[in-house]
Amino acid sequence: MVENDLVSLAKNASKNAYVPYSHFPIGAAVKTKDGKIFTGCNIENASFGLTNCGERTAIFKAVSEGYTNFSEIAIYGEAEEPVSPCGACRQVMAEFFEPSAKVTLISKKGETVEMTVGGLLPYSFTDLN
Ligand code: THU
Repeated sequence: MVENDLVSLAKNASKNAYVPYSHFPIGAAVKTKDGKIFTGCNIENASFGLTNCGERTAIFKAVSEGYTNFSEIAIYGEAEEPVSPCGACRQVMAEFFEPSAKVTLISKKGETVEMTVGGLLPYSFTDLN
């Protein structure tokens, strides 16, 4: 699968976003190191703090299927500017990606910004030992 497909899969995943409170759909597509792709969207709740972000939905879907090593992620937001991942999602990315892994942020117009996991969360907490 060509790299750009991750971008279109992230956008497509946002169609399933459950966002009755924020009306702010997010979609994400994550690629495992062996090339498998998982997608996710944000899922809100009437108890707002229970909301799961799109990035974490995609990553947790993959982890629950036995994949814990990822090479890159694309994140689409229905916004004018590419959406920057929240702190919780950065910490989850730091757990499962190498610092050099590519993160592509995508706006609703299709503009992209490329970052790395390490650039988004430098000097991250990674281990209890
Ligand atoms: N959201 C994400 O899905 N990912 C982020 O990194 C930032 C925020 C979602 C959570 C909530 O459903 C909506 O965006 C507004 O905060």
